[in-house]
Amino acid sequence: MAGYNTIRAFAPATVANVACGFDVFGLALEQPGDEVELTLNHTGRVIIRAITGDNGCLPAEASRNTAGIALLAMLQSVASGLGAELVLHKKLPLGSGMGSSAASAVAALVAANASLGNPLSPRELIPFALVAEQEACGAAHADNVAPALLGGFVLIRDAQHGDMINIPVPPDLRCVVVHPHISINTRQARQALRHYIRLSDATRQWANTAALVAAMYEQNYELLSRALCDVVAEPVRSLFVPGFDRVKQAALYAGALGCSLSGSGPSMFALCRSEENGYQVCRAMQQAFHDAGLPSDGFVSAVNTTGARVVNQEKTP
Ligand code: HSE
Repeated sequence: MAGYNTIRAFAPATVANVACGFDVFGLALEQPGDEVELTLNHTGRVIIRAITGDNGCLPAEASRNTAGIALLAMLQSVASGLGAELVLHKKLPLGSGMGSSAASAVAALVAANASLGNPLSPRELIPFALVAEQEACGAAHADNVAPALLGGFVLIRDAQHGDMINIPVPPDLRCVVVHPHISINTRQARQALRHYIRLSDATRQWANTAALVAAMYEQNYELLSRALCDVVAEPVRSLFVPGFDRVKQAALYAGALGCSLSGSGPSMFALCRSEENGYQVCRAMQQAFHDAGLPSDGFVSAVNTTGARVVNQEKTP
């Protein structure tokens, strides 16, 4: 029986929520991202042969790992009888708010799809990645997996029905992400949120989500800056991040358009109007985390408009 090529795929880090858009906005970064090497076979089983970069923290059982869960769901649906062996290279820190679980799932799906000759579009892969998100954090939120797969800035109108819209972003816009060296469990960070919010807060929030979309279309940085405001999740979740207020102040003082938590945190993101300002803001945020007693890693990136991709293919002997 003919063997399958080993395929290596990359899926980028993502910033979910983007301040006001809890579970409805997400954007993809150019770097960093997770990589998966995957070889399909005819065993009907998914085996994770190795995981690098996770300090031994992730389960290697396919049914307990987001890469394996997504892959099992996909193979069951479109290639029943096939199995796979994979090696997962974790480059994203776990529990960082940078879409780590989504990136692993998406990289595995993109590699498997390529190996099958791309029978599915990136959009058609989203439901399988959502199975993994549901398992990982108790909710099938698509604001990490959709931008990781599709690239760009994505508005999730209705994840269950695949209603997702790519919103154009100004070409000079840069996203800064600073990851302080602590981790936050997304499931717990979701449970901490209030389930009911005041009507006046809801009004402010949906005004800002609509304004943010308008600002992107108009390339209007002043409006974008005003719209980057979260009165729903940030007031609760910021309490879990030491130094949050001073890091946000430092970002704004250094010229950022806005700054908030990346996903459920602890990473914080800022949007900036140029690459040069992105680096200034990144340095200021890292210094503020340092002053709060936390070492951190900083990233400055354009919005990744292409999303996850195959990075090479090799023929197995
Ligand atoms: N929208 C999700 C949340 C993103 O805020 O819980 C998690 O990365």
